[in-house]
Amino acid sequence: MMGNGPVGFALGLLTAAGGMLGYWGIRTRRGRLFWEHVRDVVTRVRQGDRQARVLSYAGEVRPDVAQMLNDMLDALEDQVNRQSEEQRLLQYVLNAMTTGVVYVDAFGNVQMLNPVAARILRKDADEARGRPYWEVFPDYALNAAICRTLLIGSPWRNEIRLPGDVVVDVHVIRLEDAGASRDTWQEGFHVLVLCNDVTQWHRMARMRSDFIANVSHELKTPITAIRGFAETLVGEDVDESTRDSFLQVIYEESLRMSRLVEDLLTLSRLETQEMHLEWHPVQLSAVVEMAVDRLQPQLQARHLTLRVQSEGDVTVCGDEDKLLQVMLNLLTNAMRYTPPGGCVSVTWETFPDQVKVHVADTGIGIPEEEQKRVFERFYRVNADRSRASGGTGLGLAIVKHIVRSYGGEVGVRSRVGFGSDFWFTLQRCKDPASSDTASGHAVAP
Ligand SMILES: Nc1ncnc2c1ncn2[C@@H]1O[C@H](COP(=O)(O)OP(=O)(O)OP(=O)(O)O)[C@@H](O)[C@H]1O
Ligand SMILES: [Mg+2]
Repeated sequence: MMGNGPVGFALGLLTAAGGMLGYWGIRTRRGRLFWEHVRDVVTRVRQGDRQARVLSYAGEVRPDVAQMLNDMLDALEDQVNRQSEEQRLLQYVLNAMTTGVVYVDAFGNVQMLNPVAARILRKDADEARGRPYWEVFPDYALNAAICRTLLIGSPWRNEIRLPGDVVVDVHVIRLEDAGASRDTWQEGFHVLVLCNDVTQWHRMARMRSDFIANVSHELKTPITAIRGFAETLVGEDVDESTRDSFLQVIYEESLRMSRLVEDLLTLSRLETQEMHLEWHPVQLSAVVEMAVDRLQPQLQARHLTLRVQSEGDVTVCGDEDKLLQVMLNLLTNAMRYTPPGGCVSVTWETFPDQVKVHVADTGIGIPEEEQKRVFERFYRVNADRSRASGGTGLGLAIVKHIVRSYGGEVGVRSRVGFGSDFWFTLQRCKDPASSDTASGHAVAP
């Protein structure tokens, strides 16, 4: 850096000045020509020695000549210091940026990749530096865009897909000032490549459109049934028993629609309330008892045996209504997917900080490859069967949402034909008397 631009010019001047003094034959105390001493100083400065200065020896060279040369070196050092300070600041800014920045010089060589660009484009910044852009970036569209901007300076913006389903929003622009100063036609424009990872945004957009498609589909099915049966009732003469069965279908389908809307509202409420959840000490056994009481008629109607076993009572952190909803959803599933005569059990294990609750059944079970997906919205192992049994496919998504917002985890172990064990964890409130750990606002994990 010390050899270029104004610095190089100043060093040249210094050498010339030393040469003139040498021509006048002025010698240092050690007998060397003064200009040789100046040349040494210049060489040391060129090699990066910032402390190197011209010595003035009384009587051998006018002290003000040495002083002048040293003043020039001081000024140079100041300038270099300022430049390195600016460079360091620029480096901090580039490192702190959330947008990836790549600088390609007018000859098409990559001169800089900030850390975000290196991460998004999966390149090593040091390895990439100094290499032609087409060697560094294998993506054809990106290369073509850089080439165009380098040659004609026109900007380009698009999304490119990288291996691993990563979507990157790329903006290729020319660097105005640097480009304007190009002096030969062998050089192109200087180019900046700005990139942002938009994979997550794409995933969210896809989830949103899948969600809308699912909701529409789920609403369409009961609406079609209601309309069809209602049309028949309005337009045709039907006997009393047919009319009753049609009305029954209309009633059940309208119930399914209101359940779906209720579940959707619950999910949406959970999402919006997430940031200000209330945490209270809740007796786990009380919540289980409430859920069991509420489902007792269905349990009996389906001839299912219910067992509740626990390692003593435990106080958990949460909201009673939401935890009741978790228990109801899991118990309803256990009942719904267990043939008559089967058994449903609720147990819990206590650990120092948390409690693990199991809702198990001896029902139809879930194939291994589907177990991970049952917590997704609208996912049903056997869609027709679940729909026929009145399910909307949102129950477990609600369970997962509530448990996670209270810092817990959910999971399932299941074997087809033998039954399922759905479990979830909750944080324990050690001392219910002191509400220190249990009240106040919680930040959702
Ligand atoms: N205990 C279980 N045994 C077997 N399969 C189950 C059990 N619990 C859930 N499943 C499967 O997981 C799917 C998703 O369950 P989820 O509770 O989310 O929806 P659903 O029961 O179909 O409808 P709802 O929204 O009314 O609860 C179910 O459709 C079913 O296929
Ligand atoms: Mg369910």
